[in-house]
Amino acid sequence: MPQIITTRAELSDFRAQLNAKTLGFVPTMGNLHDGHLSLMSIAQQHADVTLASIFVNPTQFGVGEDLDAYPRTLEADLAQLKKQGVDAVFLPDETVIYPHGKESTLSIHMPSAMTDILCGLDRPTHFQGVATVVAKLFQLVKPTLAVFGEKDFQQLAIIRRLNEELFLNVNILSGKIIRESTGLAMSSRNQYLSPDERQRATWLSKTLQHSRTRLLAGDSVNSVLSAAKETLAQQGIKVEYVDFRDIETLANQPPDIQRGILLVAGRLGTTRLIDNLRIV
Ligand code: PAJ
Repeated sequence: MPQIITTRAELSDFRAQLNAKTLGFVPTMGNLHDGHLSLMSIAQQHADVTLASIFVNPTQFGVGEDLDAYPRTLEADLAQLKKQGVDAVFLPDETVIYPHGKESTLSIHMPSAMTDILCGLDRPTHFQGVATVVAKLFQLVKPTLAVFGEKDFQQLAIIRRLNEELFLNVNILSGKIIRESTGLAMSSRNQYLSPDERQRATWLSKTLQHSRTRLLAGDSVNSVLSAAKETLAQQGIKVEYVDFRDIETLANQPPDIQRGILLVAGRLGTTRLIDNLRIV
């Protein structure tokens, strides 16, 4: 079993025992799947000791979002962490992360150019909550390195910026998107899907693949994006955005197509899904 850490004092003891060993950190909201475990494995390859965290962070959920319904599967998660050989897991409760209460917490406002686009259009306070909890977790854990998934590409870019601007000095690594055999990107939210919706959801990755091929063949960005929107709508997916952005800055016009990434978000019923695909 991984060592279970719940308080700040236990975390300090754990850190004190590390001596000069490097610490790899993988923050999660639990309900672990192979996508999460791939990040643990990257942490294990690059650090002496690996710590995961499980905390369903309330401040990154908007009003009416799935905070209450979010799957909480601690027993199964601990079994997966054990199988993966993760050394320790941090399971803070809300009072550890938000000692002044989540309503009156300090909150980190990231540059609007990064948060008011893509997922931020539909989730205006989401990245503020993510940046706040990640900054707090980094301060508590003080990891040598931390690993995040490219599935949440905008989140990864924002966390890199947070780390730079607050001089947090954490080495940020990223892991590729892990997919089901159908191409559907693994997500804790996939379990909300009915069998029919799950089948339609595979069109997110199929459409990205097709759009990439068309961009590489020289079709214009606008025509590719509007065709993609149409295909997804035909599958009953309520498209929030299909966009083509710069992999580093998330700016709208990558200076050349090779620096581009296609990103999509859409809803099937009430389930919100995201995916992305880099050109190279
Ligand atoms: P969560 O959704 O649990 O994801 C934890 C990490 O797993 C994130 O870095 C995410 O990008 C990665 N991940 C999820 N699905 C993946 C997949 N199919 N392939 C590869 N990586 C995948 O993201 C969060 O939690 C939270 O916002 C958090 C960063 C923990 C802050 O609360």
